[in-house]
Amino acid sequence: MNRYTIANIPGDGIGREVLPAGVRVLSAVAQRCGFALEFRDFDWSCETYLATGKMMPDDGLTRLADHDAIFLGAVGYPGVPDHVSLWGLLLPIRREFDQYVNLRPVRLLPGIRSPLRDKSTGDIDFWVVRENSEGEYSRIGGRTGTGEDEIVIQQAVFTRRGTDRILRYAFDFARKLGRPHVTSATKSNGLYHSMPFWDERFAAIGAEYPEIATDQYHIDILAARFVMSPERFDVVVGSNLFGDILSDLGPGVTGTIAVAPSANLNPPRRFPSMFEPVHGSAPDIAGQGIANPIGQIWSGAMMLDHLGEAEAAAMVLAAIEAVLLDPQADLTPDLGGDGSTADLTRQILEKLPGR
Ligand code: NAD
Ligand code: IPM
Ligand code: MN
Repeated sequence: MNRYTIANIPGDGIGREVLPAGVRVLSAVAQRCGFALEFRDFDWSCETYLATGKMMPDDGLTRLADHDAIFLGAVGYPGVPDHVSLWGLLLPIRREFDQYVNLRPVRLLPGIRSPLRDKSTGDIDFWVVRENSEGEYSRIGGRTGTGEDEIVIQQAVFTRRGTDRILRYAFDFARKLGRPHVTSATKSNGLYHSMPFWDERFAAIGAEYPEIATDQYHIDILAARFVMSPERFDVVVGSNLFGDILSDLGPGVTGTIAVAPSANLNPPRRFPSMFEPVHGSAPDIAGQGIANPIGQIWSGAMMLDHLGEAEAAAMVLAAIEAVLLDPQADLTPDLGGDGSTADLTRQILEKLPGR
């Protein structure tokens, strides 16, 4: 029997509510498909920080390293500045384990209404491939001067290796999907150094894939096109910051960010990958038991796929879709219902085959 060890990090806010929902669904599907998931809990969070001055212990990353994957809820909560909590836990994991790909599907699921007129399932179905280890996310820079003369410098870092590998991933992914079209997010009219370089590398790597059509848009008009004509996209590749923004905008256009999953990957898999919803800790609804668990559960399905359990992953996705298509379903408030996290999780469990 295949056996996988998974490091669970529920984190903060609704992460603590949706992660257990994900674990329940994954455990159920593992049992049905005949493989074992051994979950180990790492209760690192803003509370840890308030108690110890650190988001995780000094050997935290080492303790995660020997797992097959990491399953994370959300990190960040009022009381600890976001740049402290995120640079203390989530971002070091992405970097230490060289998870340079952040793969985020944008799909209008059946049964969910897009805020866009006349859009139905199939119209919005593309992937954001986000660079996840460098770019605009950087601690390089600083503050100098005082008062009116204060100056703050925030550096972005684009390495040739880092840029080429994410672009190549996007092209390989489009090829694998059988959707030979890659769109690049740029801003080479305003950013003088980084984005002209990004465009140059996009053209160079694109030339290695003559059968794949390319286009590129400045991030501002690309944001507008996500809303005006989302059906035109297949694979959209962007830098760390642009990819971050596009991967909330896309799910927003599909009706709720709460269902959106993500995979932080490090091909060719020297380290554990990490799977987490796109959304955050949602302090505005935390503790009420009404968070939508679908983003977490779908992230779990991506994790199963990554582990080689494609059939189990497909079962989870089918169960999610079956619930959303069920007119009697008791959905969470973000989907217009008045159900709880537990209600929605139970219905997904019930739709798994072979119960
Ligand atoms: P957020 O995603 O937490 O919340 C944005 C809005 O979406 C809120 O109104 C929230 O209630 C709603 N929402 C999010 N997830 C939902 C769910 N599963 N079900 C129902 N509604 C949901 O974004 P934010 O408010 O910008 O961030 C809150 C905190 O989370 C901050 O500390 C931020 O840094 C952190 N954050 C962490 C991650 C992560 O760990 N990957 C991602 C984004 C934000
Ligand atoms: C995400 C989040 C994180 C990011 C934050 C919390 C640092 O928004 O996973 O999309 O920007 O990467
Ligand atoms: Mn984000």
